[in-house]
Amino acid sequence: QPTGPMRHFLQIKDFTSDELLYVLNRALIIKSKFKRYEPHMPLHDRTLAMVFEKASTRTRVSFEAGMYQMGGSVIHLTTTDSQLGRSEPIEDTARVISRMVDIIMIRTFEQTRIERFAAHSRVPVINGLTNEYHPCQILADILTFMEHRGAIKGKTVAWIGDANNMAYTWIQAAQLLGFKMHVSAPKGYRLEDDRIAGVPADVLEQFDDPEAACRGADLVTTDVWTSMGYEEENEKRKRAFKNWQVNAGVMQAAQPDALFMHCLPAHRGEEVTADVIDGPQSVVWDEAENRLHAQKALMEFLLLGRLPDAEASGE
Ligand code: CP
Ligand code: NVA
Repeated sequence: QPTGPMRHFLQIKDFTSDELLYVLNRALIIKSKFKRYEPHMPLHDRTLAMVFEKASTRTRVSFEAGMYQMGGSVIHLTTTDSQLGRSEPIEDTARVISRMVDIIMIRTFEQTRIERFAAHSRVPVINGLTNEYHPCQILADILTFMEHRGAIKGKTVAWIGDANNMAYTWIQAAQLLGFKMHVSAPKGYRLEDDRIAGVPADVLEQFDDPEAACRGADLVTTDVWTSMGYEEENEKRKRAFKNWQVNAGVMQAAQPDALFMHCLPAHRGEEVTADVIDGPQSVVWDEAENRLHAQKALMEFLLLGRLPDAEASGE
């Protein structure tokens, strides 16, 4: 058991840069054990509850498989098959579930909703995506960058398209891990001033033109034009975002060895062309797989704390 106070992972900045790097390095070790078919079952007596108020493929499978691989068990709840769909308060749900399981992942709408949940939980709570943030995805993305290119410190990441939950999570990670964000979004969908107040200019630069944002970038990344919960704006968004597509021309503006990432699911022909997402610079399948390894390290950290050096390094 960790000795300090209980920790949640509701946004990237809930962790220090040192803790983020610990979890990322631990993920590399857990991944290498997985690749060698070496069992890693430190959570054999633990149960994860997952609460989904929005759809998911990757988040569900990676958390569920990850917990089983670590020897634990999983309970999967959705709005429709739980009392959440019949308006049981989120606070009561948190109080009850957290008396029965050891750790909880929730995917929901407003960040305030997960904060209310966590405030009433007796066990660690992980953000599996909210309207505002998607911290588990960014752990996987940075892990993927590290594997392909080494440390992300000092590098430049170009975000093209909607200034959504992914974009804000990247910006938090950039502040903690010392890399630079170039963001280009169409008018009406740009970063909100009050949410980036205090982010230094050497961490975040905004561009009108997507190609300009890609200049010097070591990684180009984008996401759907319409996030979950905004479906009624779909047609309007398709018009607004049509020039914010990551295509071969946009990739050409970046460093010649720039990587392409997308958290998925993707819409080929909208935010990214098939030649880019299915092309040689794309690492989207590694990125998706790394959800598994990053979250195993995250759950291990939240439940067992920081392991002694020798153990943490897999010795
Ligand atoms: N990237 C991601 O979170 O995917 P899912 O919505 O499928 O979980
Ligand atoms: N921005 C997207 C990410 C999906 C994984 C959404 O919130 O729907």
